[in-house]
Amino acid sequence: MKSNESLLQERLKHVPQGPFNTHPIFAAKAKGAIITDIEGKEYIDFAGGIGVANVGHGDEEVLRAVHDQIDKYMHTCFHVVMYEPYIELAKRLNELTPGNFPKKTMFVNSGAEGVENAIKVARHATNRTATIAFEDAFHGRTLLAMSLTSKMKPYKLGFAPYAPEVYRMPYAYCYRCAFGLEYPSCELHCAYFLRDFFNTNISAEQVASLIVEPVLGEGGFVVPPKEYFKVLQKICQDNGIVFIADEVQTGFGRTAKMFAMEHFDIAPDITVMAKSIAAGLPLSAVTGKAELMDHPQVGGLGGTFSGNVVALRAGLAVLDQFKKKSLLKRAEQIGKKMIDRFRAFQKAYEIIGDVRGLGAMVAMELVTDRKTKEPATAFTKQLVARCREKGLLMISAGTHSNIIRTLMPLVITDEQLEKGLSIIEESLSELQK
Ligand SMILES: Cc1ncc(COP(=O)(O)O)c(C=O)c1O
Repeated sequence: MKSNESLLQERLKHVPQGPFNTHPIFAAKAKGAIITDIEGKEYIDFAGGIGVANVGHGDEEVLRAVHDQIDKYMHTCFHVVMYEPYIELAKRLNELTPGNFPKKTMFVNSGAEGVENAIKVARHATNRTATIAFEDAFHGRTLLAMSLTSKMKPYKLGFAPYAPEVYRMPYAYCYRCAFGLEYPSCELHCAYFLRDFFNTNISAEQVASLIVEPVLGEGGFVVPPKEYFKVLQKICQDNGIVFIADEVQTGFGRTAKMFAMEHFDIAPDITVMAKSIAAGLPLSAVTGKAELMDHPQVGGLGGTFSGNVVALRAGLAVLDQFKKKSLLKRAEQIGKKMIDRFRAFQKAYEIIGDVRGLGAMVAMELVTDRKTKEPATAFTKQLVARCREKGLLMISAGTHSNIIRTLMPLVITDEQLEKGLSIIEESLSELQK
């Protein structure tokens, strides 16, 4: 049997370094919230394959649907011979996403591809070119999605020129306010700033869409004030700009609502989904107002693998499992527990500058000094490694990689959650002596 170390050597030899690896281990199997590596060591999974395993690894109903579909056929290409699961999941997402207006849904393969298609639709429907995105945003790694992404290293360095017509403004990152203000006395300056932006950066009549994450994902689980999106959306509406919500990481129950924009009472013009939508099979969805989605000409959208039938069957099973297992309620319980414990850690450990979250999307931001808020990037890396040694898999986030974020499967048991939290506490205390 191969060891993690021997496979790692082969990986280094045959696979380029670009596709990054957080943990130097190889998976043998995964079930619920536990991943077992090829040496038989079990890990509690607080990463969920970067937010993909909300229904848990190896969910029985998802597996049943996938096996059933594979036995029938795996691919005809929706553009050649159609299949019912595409229509069925589209119908369900049209009903499920926020907004009481006629909607239509198309499927592609990844978050980045979903983002690209949303931007294409908005451009076509408005006959405008520009997109407004945000600082600390992450929208993927394909050329346009990477151009919308904010963080330079490692996502953008060396890959210029970027796609044109992307304009960037600060996000409502209250812990590190770009304007040096404080909520609520700021009166949401960062949202109203969009109006100034039209004078200083790009004219409103040139802007096709504004794309925004309801809670920053890779940017570090930053949760804006409740009224933030209302202001942004109103300004977009007043100027004929398509409001796109990137719910790739926040979607499918992570924040204890099916979609995070529900917390803000927002119905976006277009919602992009991926990650936990199909429990690990590559699938993303773009759901939007019917008149927008229908704008591009026949053949203007799609792709060979787009809306693969096996992934769609998994997606249908995921929605059933959310109901059957009351996963939204569970996300709320997990979130409460995590926030309470992280706040207790914050009291005990100077290194934790901020604790925040929405539902089960919880994070702590580590800083070397609470006053200067200097990012504790090296410490965060050490903490992730120490936790792994003790049997807990975590990933970091943030433009400075100094944020611990939690994306555990929502089927995690209380015991596993408790054990994971104890490992974090133990590691914090060992590292911050
Ligand atoms: C908010 C958001 N949008 C888009 C993406 C890109 O998704 P993918 O990696 O599936 O292309 C991600 C991935 O982390 C994400 O978090």
